[in-house]
Amino acid sequence: MPLGRFRIGNGATEHPGSSNVRVIAVINQKGGVGKTTTTVNLSAALARRGFRVLVCDMDPQANLTVHLDKRPDLESNTMTNLLVEDAPIQDLVQATNEERLSIVPSDTSLAGVEQVLANRIGRETILREAIEAFEKRNEFDFVFLDCPPSLGVLSANALVAASHVVIPMQAEYLSLQGMAKLMEVIQLVQKRLNPALSVALVLPCMLDSRTNLTTEVLREIEQYFGPQLAKTRIRNNVKLAEAPSFGRTIFEHAPDSNGARDYDAVAQELLEKLGVQTSPAVADKPAPRAQEEPPAAEAAAES
Ligand SMILES: Nc1ncnc2c1ncn2[C@@H]1O[C@H](COP(=O)(O)OP(=O)(O)O)[C@@H](O)[C@H]1O
Ligand SMILES: [Mg+2]
Repeated sequence: MPLGRFRIGNGATEHPGSSNVRVIAVINQKGGVGKTTTTVNLSAALARRGFRVLVCDMDPQANLTVHLDKRPDLESNTMTNLLVEDAPIQDLVQATNEERLSIVPSDTSLAGVEQVLANRIGRETILREAIEAFEKRNEFDFVFLDCPPSLGVLSANALVAASHVVIPMQAEYLSLQGMAKLMEVIQLVQKRLNPALSVALVLPCMLDSRTNLTTEVLREIEQYFGPQLAKTRIRNNVKLAEAPSFGRTIFEHAPDSNGARDYDAVAQELLEKLGVQTSPAVADKPAPRAQEEPPAAEAAAES
């Protein structure tokens, strides 16, 4: 597959017609690869650097909503209201425990949306239109879309609304097979609906750097993706797996863990990829603790 067709994110790939909001779809049709963990902790890392971040739960399983300590069954306004009833985003946004990090929650009703929208004309552009209307309010610097483990209408809405894609993946042999299908879909969306879409980062998650297989698979992933493969690796870290049950981000749960260090390093790498230097709010904000120690990519897995 010609890699040249996926532009690397930089100033030249701004979301069309928008202000400076970066809309980032965190996508991989495989479940359990680290999408939700990445959405939560990458967003939190950016929020702690002073950026205003909105995360949107696009998965009917609502893991993101629960991870950020929201109770989906009690929420009256969710992503379903946006997609089915055109509810404006400002009516759905809720604060989280993290300063500058907000969420549009979801619940299980989102599972029925694919069917409800099946015959609706323009069903793939609903989220984009909602975000475009919302961007005018200039309330956020980043919007993250946590996608479900499928490539249906919900993921299509995310890809059409996004300026950039982040693809968490595991360094396993079978992961590569799914990548070809995902790239095909991304290319199709670029061609038909969203020419400005670009792959910012392919992010290896839950890495166990002790096995030879991991090294081999990473080499193959690098051949396939070239510079789109992130330099940062998210190591296997038990603190990252614990954090959701406390309804906390890794920076609240274990700020000195490898998980916090790795996700802060991804935030730095993403900002560099997108050509974002700083944000207005960041100047007087002390850097998060996790930033002080450089990520040790090859260090032992647990901390
Ligand atoms: N780096 C990591 N180390 C250990 N556990 C992780 C790591 N990343 C994610 N997990 C755990 O793996 C499971 C799947 O991750 P998740 O982010 O929910 O994947 P997805 O959203 O792609 O389905 C979750 O239980 C999560 O807590
Ligand atoms: Mg998930």
